[in-house]
Amino acid sequence: MQKLINEIKKTSGDMARRGWAESNGGNISLRLNEENYAFFNEFQPKSEMIKLPMGMPEIAGERFLVTGTGRFLRNIEVFPEKNIGVIEIDNMGKNWQLLWGYEPVGAPTSELPSHLLSHCRIKAKSDNQSFAFIHTHPNSVIALTYAVANLDTRSLSKLLWQSHAECVVVFPQGIEFLPWVMAGSMDLGIATADAMTKRNLAVWQFHGICGCGRNLDEAFGRIDVAEKAAEICLRVMAAGGVKQTLSDAQLRAIAANFNCPLDETLF
Ligand code: 13P
Ligand code: ZN
Repeated sequence: MQKLINEIKKTSGDMARRGWAESNGGNISLRLNEENYAFFNEFQPKSEMIKLPMGMPEIAGERFLVTGTGRFLRNIEVFPEKNIGVIEIDNMGKNWQLLWGYEPVGAPTSELPSHLLSHCRIKAKSDNQSFAFIHTHPNSVIALTYAVANLDTRSLSKLLWQSHAECVVVFPQGIEFLPWVMAGSMDLGIATADAMTKRNLAVWQFHGICGCGRNLDEAFGRIDVAEKAAEICLRVMAAGGVKQTLSDAQLRAIAANFNCPLDETLF
């Protein structure tokens, strides 16, 4: 349990210090692995059964550590039990209840649909090896969704791949671009989860980014690299625009050198 709390403290603290988590911006969820799952066996449920917005049989019986709605990620380091909670999904995948946290009262993030629906997909696509999902508000990724006209998944992926030579290695499947949808909605949750079947990153226009990974470090690292590439891209625009860039052949060569399965449909 302490290891789990330390992991989330580190990630949430890093997110806050990066400037990605103003006020209550951003949220984190971690599906509990066998080791952490068992720790909560002795806990009595702290809430009624609460209905999920749709059935999620893929994650029936799973437990998740989830940041609280309205809570500040920067405060997790100081008061973890107030700002995070552990919820359990029932055996039908239809309801959840609180086992621990959100002291004295509280609820999981308003982005729970995106988190839980994405966990359904990333659990399946990773053969049960992916446990982490992060949503956050990094400045440069958001700014890019205002500064570049007619963005879509293809143009955004290509732009970021070309803005920093490490990007094809870190996200060879590209980065999904989702046009603006209301925060916290089921529509946003469904679109994000669909994106996660193909990719590990999705940008929410005018709002932020989501990333998944085997653990919080991997999810954080993917977002960090995308944000760095977005920042470089904006600096290049501010410095008068692109004078030269990585060619398609160079991007393919980098991916091949590191054995990364590039999504060729994005070229
Ligand atoms: P929560 O406070 O409900 O987690 O919402 C923050 C956020 O980033 C919404 O998109
Ligand atoms: Zn948000």
